[in-house]
Amino acid sequence: MKILTVIGARPQFIKAAPVSQAIRKKHDEVIIHTGQHYDDNMSKIFFEELNIPAPDYNLNIGSGNHGYMTGMMLIKIEEIVLKENPDALMVYGDTNSTLAGALAASKLHIPVVHIEAGLRSFNMAMPEEQNRILTDHISKVLFCPTYTAVKNLEKEGIIDNIYNVGDVMLDATLHFKNLALKNTEFLREWGIENKDYILATIHRAENTDNRQRLQSIINALNNCQKEIILPLHPRTRKFLGEYGIETSSNIKIIDPVGYLDMIRLESHALKIITDSGGVQKEAFFLKVPCITLRDETEWVETVQNGWNIIVGSNEKKIVDAIKNFTPAMEQKEAFGDGKASEKISEILYNTLQ
Ligand code: UD1
Ligand code: UDP
Repeated sequence: MKILTVIGARPQFIKAAPVSQAIRKKHDEVIIHTGQHYDDNMSKIFFEELNIPAPDYNLNIGSGNHGYMTGMMLIKIEEIVLKENPDALMVYGDTNSTLAGALAASKLHIPVVHIEAGLRSFNMAMPEEQNRILTDHISKVLFCPTYTAVKNLEKEGIIDNIYNVGDVMLDATLHFKNLALKNTEFLREWGIENKDYILATIHRAENTDNRQRLQSIINALNNCQKEIILPLHPRTRKFLGEYGIETSSNIKIIDPVGYLDMIRLESHALKIITDSGGVQKEAFFLKVPCITLRDETEWVETVQNGWNIIVGSNEKKIVDAIKNFTPAMEQKEAFGDGKASEKISEILYNTLQ
């Protein structure tokens, strides 16, 4: 079986790390990197650190309006699909690279395989919500990370070839955690104390593209009287500069880090503040309380379990959660057993024959 995989953004590289390894035991894989993320610390570092096979094609289509980016990817991916004639095309998550890949294959009647299918925020203003709904509806095989995702698909009338295999990000975290935490010098090298700082990430368009929301979030971080480590997404760096928003000295802004450093920073953090989907889940996997800078989340299990609190961009709520949010101690298994990638490979072997 020949599988054409389309990836392009940071979280997709991390998801592809365990999946590509599993896929290649049973199938041939050809990888297209759309180039959506292209800085070394947003792309190359993950291929190197996580041993992701080098892409067979790099489309170099990064940074642009949604229509331009998605359209250019669609044109280029179609050419490659026609040339490679794969048995299936596989996409991850909900980015513009996801939608472009799925659309190119679907129009050519090549089965689309969607990993992380069925997620919903029920907020159609999010580009991710549009991408994931459209992708799910043109996918042939849908791999869901949670039971909630399966139910979401059923409610939209998608009932065939749905598999609740668990979350491939749990596979990645479990696989790379031991390696990451072997570095016992990390805290000393970074000059930080275990459970004495807060790790923050901000990049979601609804926060960065809205001056008031971003200002309110930064006000909360400025005024929380805690050390904050903020690996800054390039999108957020750009908007902080444009808006002229100042951060105070308790916030240590650093460039985006590789996955191993990220796991270390997450594991040792007292709390995590984020609007990232992946980081919310990793906080849960690593049992670190999470404060989510969104008005809703797709990862409802983290909230239902009591390990995640939704605060939006409200300054008072963020400061209050930093001081007072204490998670429930018990976690119910919600994201599978860490073997999603192997299951995906096996199911594709049986389904696409
Ligand atoms: C994209 C995804 C989002 C995902 C995120 C993961 C879409 C619509 N959004 O958002 O769902 O959560 O990736 O991080 O697909 N930039 C650089 N260097 C890079 C990459 C981006 O400087 O390597 C800057 C550029 O100014 C670019 C901006 O960041 O215009 C936004 O990048 P883009 O890929 O459009 O969206 P993300 O915000 O990264
Ligand atoms: N991540 C990373 N370095 C960073 C910030 C995030 O390796 O500086 C990882 C993080 O651990 C998670 C993934 O990137 O695995 C999440 O990606 P992101 O927040 O960009 O996107 P989202 O998950 O919201 O789509």
